Amino acid sequence: MEQFDQPINRAGTSSVKWDMLKTVFGSEDLLPMWVADMDFKPPQAVLDKLEKRLKLPPYGYTFVPDSTGRAVAGWMERRHGWNVKPGWIMYSNGVVPSISTVIRALTKPGDQVLTLTPVYTPFFQMIELNDRKLASSLLVEEKGRYEINWTDFEEKIKNSSLFLLCSPHNPSGRVWSEDELSRISELCRKHDVTLVSDEIHSDLLYSHAEHIPAAHAAKTQSDHIVTLAAPSKTFNLAGLQASVIIAESEEMREKIQAEQTKQGFFTLNTFGIAAMEAAYEEGEEWLQSLMVYLEGNLKLVREAVQEIQGVTLMEPDSTYLLWLDFRKTGKSDEDVQEALLKKAKLALEPGEKYGEGGEGHVRMNIACSRDLVKEGIKRLKLAFE
Ligand SMILES: Cc1ncc(COP(=O)(O)O)c(C=O)c1O
Repeated sequence: MEQFDQPINRAGTSSVKWDMLKTVFGSEDLLPMWVADMDFKPPQAVLDKLEKRLKLPPYGYTFVPDSTGRAVAGWMERRHGWNVKPGWIMYSNGVVPSISTVIRALTKPGDQVLTLTPVYTPFFQMIELNDRKLASSLLVEEKGRYEINWTDFEEKIKNSSLFLLCSPHNPSGRVWSEDELSRISELCRKHDVTLVSDEIHSDLLYSHAEHIPAAHAAKTQSDHIVTLAAPSKTFNLAGLQASVIIAESEEMREKIQAEQTKQGFFTLNTFGIAAMEAAYEEGEEWLQSLMVYLEGNLKLVREAVQEIQGVTLMEPDSTYLLWLDFRKTGKSDEDVQEALLKKAKLALEPGEKYGEGGEGHVRMNIACSRDLVKEGIKRLKLAFE
């Protein structure tokens, strides 16, 4: 556990979280608890594999070997009980690029793409920048959890070509149940809609939660489902830009690969391949320790938030991103950002970035040492004093 307590100085490493504070928030002297990566080293097995590869120059064109596909499939089977055939796996330079590729491959300009809001900002961008029509269905809060408004969802899915699901959900950490996923899958099937499930956060589960891949939950066939996954969030490897696209349907795979070819995408980064394979093969024990540590961080924030009048925490099932609701303080989004940045010197993601339903919230990243979490809590209290 001590490994996660070790402070890491990321300043000066071109870290978006630490080195872009001035560009994004206008000030450098802030505690960064925003961008979704962790202030932790990846598992030692990943570092060893990278070092080994580094010592084998040159770093010329590298194909993704079959062993990487076996590592991905093995992980999905062990962690999520999902039997993925190696032939279903394609690679990509990141989940956001995958979203764009899949939208371009499986829909036409002008087609409607549905999502649930609030949600991770690039969902909107990838839909709209690719000239598709964005439709969103607002999640409703019931007993402190987001629920799908099924009437609205069914109304909107009828006119959509693709539904982009965030599973588990960023920003709330909500894990969707098997029943919810089956219902989504059946509605998509009924209305001939492709279901694209972004499962980048699916390995970061708190002890009470179980993630079920959408393609695995689908009680009927799952050949209308595309799953996007990556070791990047789980093992803190986002800078290596390696992810997977999994599709059972051969027809879909052909379309996705044709789109990748059009974009000139051929393979992953040499180091991304090495890291992905090592993480999926040898990272399980490290991940278990990480989740125990994060659960400890979560407990501290939960207790602290209970003392801040008007602020509530949406209990997460997964991931290190906490969704804090400050609507009952009566403060505006602008006032809260002002207090966070000027008074408390704390950089959190403004909820408004996550679309409708995001206002009145901020997102806090707790994937850092306990000392930094404690400092963050102090500053959070100061901002709402
Ligand atoms: C839901 C979701 N999808 C995708 C990403 C980013 O994926 P990538 O860095 O692989 O493009 C994030 C990062 O925060 C995310 O939360």
